[in-house]
Amino acid sequence: MSDLPDIHSRDRQTGRVQDPEAHARAVRGMFARISGVYDRMNHVLSFNFDRRWRKRLAARLAPGTDRVLDLCAGTGDLGLACLAAGRARRVVAVDFVPEMLAGIVGKAGAEMVEAVAGDGLRLPLPDACVDAVVAGFGVRNLADPAAGAREMARVLRPGGRALVLEFFRTDPGATGESRGPAGLVRWTLGKALPAVGRVLARDHAAYAYLPGSMDRFHSVDEYRDVLREAGFAELFAERMTLGVAHLVGGVKSG
Ligand SMILES: C[S@@+](CC[C@H](N)C(=O)[O-])C[C@H]1O[C@@H](n2cnc3c(N)ncnc32)[C@H](O)[C@@H]1O
Repeated sequence: MSDLPDIHSRDRQTGRVQDPEAHARAVRGMFARISGVYDRMNHVLSFNFDRRWRKRLAARLAPGTDRVLDLCAGTGDLGLACLAAGRARRVVAVDFVPEMLAGIVGKAGAEMVEAVAGDGLRLPLPDACVDAVVAGFGVRNLADPAAGAREMARVLRPGGRALVLEFFRTDPGATGESRGPAGLVRWTLGKALPAVGRVLARDHAAYAYLPGSMDRFHSVDEYRDVLREAGFAELFAERMTLGVAHLVGGVKSG
């Protein structure tokens, strides 16, 4: 994306951005600006598929899971979906943009969510304090995805599950998905998002960031390796809606 500033470019192997502070500042600013329209834009731009994807993630949590960390929780919809599905009893929602967390207030189940303003790369939580970690469209924004995965492993109890719902990079030719229906949907999103964002959210830059950030992030296979290196086993990946999004997860070893 030609109008993306260089601060979001990543090292192809490690996935780290070159200037973590500038990147985090820009990401914070973007989400603070669009927090008021975030939920509506999500449902409109995904034709409501985002709700279905969150439900499918929730179904992957072990029944009776007690305390779930919703990492990069935003307006809380993923943690709330886990509660609504009866798969979580309590949720800790961590995000570094308080304006996004404010969107949790008033939603069904919000009383079971503890919202904590904090950085996913330095979680303000003790070791092994949650029974599962979920993340929806969040890890792609982290300046250092491997450091984020290590934090997920640190706060998770051994045997607990990590479930990550994300738009991963697809390389031309590497999988059929870059050329099939998912490739078409992603290409359309890349063209449509900035325009729709300009009209509905009045923020062209924020919605131009999304397609660019998908292309710059890890592929599904690379992110599975990131989780493995952070101490997760029993890794799996599940395609959502013809590969538009993926759910990648594993169990904390030990
Ligand atoms: C695309 S939104 C996803 C929100 C929500 N999880 C969902 O499913 O709709 C990404 C969120 O990640 C948060 N975020 C990005 N980098 C973060 C970081 N380093 N620490 C905490 N939150 C972060 C942003 O503030 C934003 O709310």
